[in-house]
Parts: sequence; structure tokens; C-alpha cells
Amino acid sequence: MGKKILVVGSGGREHALCWKLSQSPRVEAVFCAPGNAGISQHAQCIDIKANDLEGLASFAAENGIDMTIVGPEDPLAQGIVDIFKEKGLTIFGPTKKAAQIEASKVFNKKILEKAGAPTAAYKVFTDPDQAKKYIRENAEIPVVVKADGLAAGKGVIVAKSMEEALDAVDLILVKKAFGDAGKKLIVEECLKGEEASFMAITDGTTVLPLATSQDHKPVYDNDEGPNTGGMGAYSPAPVVTTELFDKVMDQVMIPTVKAMADESIPYQGVLYGGLMIDNGVPNVLEFNCRFGDPEAQPILMRLKTDLLDLIEAAVENRLETITPEWDERAAVCVVLASGGYPGSYETGKEIAGLEEVEKMEGVMVFHAGTAKKEGKYVTAGGRVLGVTALGATIKEAIDRAYEAVSNISWEGMHYRKDIGKKALKYL
Ligand code: AMP
Ligand code: GLY
Repeated sequence: MGKKILVVGSGGREHALCWKLSQSPRVEAVFCAPGNAGISQHAQCIDIKANDLEGLASFAAENGIDMTIVGPEDPLAQGIVDIFKEKGLTIFGPTKKAAQIEASKVFNKKILEKAGAPTAAYKVFTDPDQAKKYIRENAEIPVVVKADGLAAGKGVIVAKSMEEALDAVDLILVKKAFGDAGKKLIVEECLKGEEASFMAITDGTTVLPLATSQDHKPVYDNDEGPNTGGMGAYSPAPVVTTELFDKVMDQVMIPTVKAMADESIPYQGVLYGGLMIDNGVPNVLEFNCRFGDPEAQPILMRLKTDLLDLIEAAVENRLETITPEWDERAAVCVVLASGGYPGSYETGKEIAGLEEVEKMEGVMVFHAGTAKKEGKYVTAGGRVLGVTALGATIKEAIDRAYEAVSNISWEGMHYRKDIGKKALKYL
């Protein structure tokens, strides 16, 4: 009997997961809750929200789901894995306690210290006056001020002046701009270098690295403008040389999983290290407890191994028996966003040109925020599509991705024109 899989979430990452899982000869059915219009090409979308943990568990129990895979951090931080496991349901991801590695920056820092992994020097504050006194007397500008908890990627302020740093303290601790996520904050040394995303799957003991990637967080070309959830990504990331890859495994990933085990908080799931690479030192900016989005899109395009094999091996504590195979080609994902994103934006705009792109070999359009209206795709989110292309070289993948993008349009659509450009300097 084939397996029934439930994917939780509704973005481009979840579309890529459903697309990949639907290719597994061992999979009978893929469900996605809540999914989106594009995801329904590869999975049956279920009208249950990603944070309705009890609703999801009931669905899994009633429909004989063999494996649940969670896309976003919120349900993990709220304890979806604990709830499923209590009910005897199989699920891939960290427990509520283990998800603290992303959900609390203070916890994250403590684990990094235990692991001895390279990271920025920091101090924790709950009192705004003390935080400001410390910043005035000790901080070198630029300095980074971070809300402790989950803030939808907005809780990090890289302050370029003393005034901005002091304002960030007020924003987090006094104005409570991020609610309870801002009960504590971290003042952190500002690191320089080039960022990379390093993801691994772990069963709590074995750490199986995935292909490397690089995200593009700021909204405009040349990394200008406010941060977004990610405007594009590519894999592999040449900034992570073979030597550096080994260093990341030895100095960051393996010691972190071990530190979690030593704390009696075993970590199972995807561990995602956000790195700042400076002169060969892989400093950790943060950990995420899930696949990156958009990074998952190019990475899953390159994964040749059955994803279910990897995930089952992790859940069954036998990851050491698996070696994933990767497509030698590079993959580039260009995110197409609604006008106004990452600020407020309109939805319901009709998307043109998708049929043209469907005909292109080695190109996938993963939907991040779409709906169907009168049989046509319309925009339904800030990030709308992730146009992802394979190419023999990174240059070719970039060209293919933008060739596909040139077919697609809607009123107000915008995207970065320089996705993958940073990789070219290594070639
Ligand atoms: P996060 O939302 O935690 O991924 O952080 C958002 C972004 O803030 C990161 O991708 C970095 O670009 C930046 N950032 C976070 N911490 C630091 C740091 N210590 N030094 C420099 N930049 C940082
Ligand atoms: N693309 C960054 C993230 O998934 O957090």
C-alpha cells in the first residue's frame, strides 16, 4: 500500500514539498493543509489552517495519514509534533521544546555557546533602560537588536546609528511592536561577510547535510530596501567551498545536534543554519527549525533521492543508512511578489503567462500565494510565485529562470533582477 502524506503550510516551500513527494513511487496521496491554488496541482488541499493543531491531528488520524511534514515554524513552535506524537501519529519535525532553537533567540544563543559554534557576541535584556545604557556605553555601531521570539522575520534590526539602535529597543521592549516575542531582546555584535543557508536533516544523532543555498532577503537589487521572507534563492552556493562545508558540519551542525541531545532536548527534523561567512569562519546568525523558503524550492529541484526515504529514515532514527543524490545542475528560484510587498499589497490580480512557462523543460513555478477565480489564477499573497529553473551552470540557471519570468505578469508584479549574481564572482 502506498503512503498517505500530509504537508502543513501554504507557501512556495510547501508547493515544492508536495511536488517532490508526489513523484515518489511509494506515495499514494499527498494532502496539503491549507495549501494554495497552485499546490492543488500536486496535492489535495484541505481547508484546515496551519496553526489549527488539533484539527490537523484529527484529519491525520481520521484519514490514515502515514507521515506529516510541517513547513512553517509557527505550528512547530506551538507544539504540533508533541500533539501528533501523543496521539501516536507519525510526524517529521522538532518538538515544541526543540523548536525553541528558532522560536527563542536567547535559547538559540545558549545552545550555540554549549556547542562552541562561532557566533556574534551578545547580551540579553528585559529592561529598556539597561539595554540602552549598554548600547550607549559599549556598543560599536552598526549593532544588531533582536526581539527574542518569532516575529515573522521582522524582529531583527541592524542599526546603522546609535539613534536607530536606541529606537529599536523602544520598539521591542516599550512599544511591544512584536507583542510577546519582544519580552526580551538581544543586543548583538554586527557581523560582516556573505550569508549562506545550510540545511540538514537530523534524526537527533546523525546529521545529514542537504545541498547548500543562498537566500536574497532584501526586497530590491543589490540587497537594498527592507527585508522580506526571501526574494529568491539558488543552490549550490559556491561561497560554501568543500573546506567550509566540512567546517560547518564539524563546528556548527554536529555540535549543535549533540548539544541539544546533551540538554535532553533531542532535535529531530530540519536544522537550518543561517550563516555569515567571514574569512572562512561560518558564524551562525540564527537557526531555523524547518526548511527555508524560498531555499527549499531550488534545493528540492536538485534532490534526486526520494524525499520520503530521507524523512522516514530520520523519523525511524536510521539516517546513517542514507546518502542523498543531487542533480549536478544548479537551480535558481526568482520570487515574483505583489506590488507593495513587503509592505501592504493588493490581491486578486489575474496572473498571465503561466501556460507558456509550463511548456519549458526544467522549469517549475511553485505557487506561494495564489487562488483560483473563475478558473484563472489570481494573486493571493505578498510572495506569489517562485519561478525555479535548472541549468548546467549557475549562469544558465539564472538565464533560464529569468526567461521563464519574462512570460509572467500581473498588475503591480515586482521581482529582483539580480538573483544568483553573487554566485557568479566565484566562477
Ligand atoms: P533573521 O530574521 O534572524 O534571519 O535575521 C535577518 C537578517 O538580519 C539576517 O539574514 C542578516 O542579514 C541580519 N542579521 C542578523 N543578525 C546579524 C548580525 N549579528 N550581524 C549582521 N547581520 C545580522
Ligand atoms: N528564507 C529564509 C527563511 O526561510 O527563513
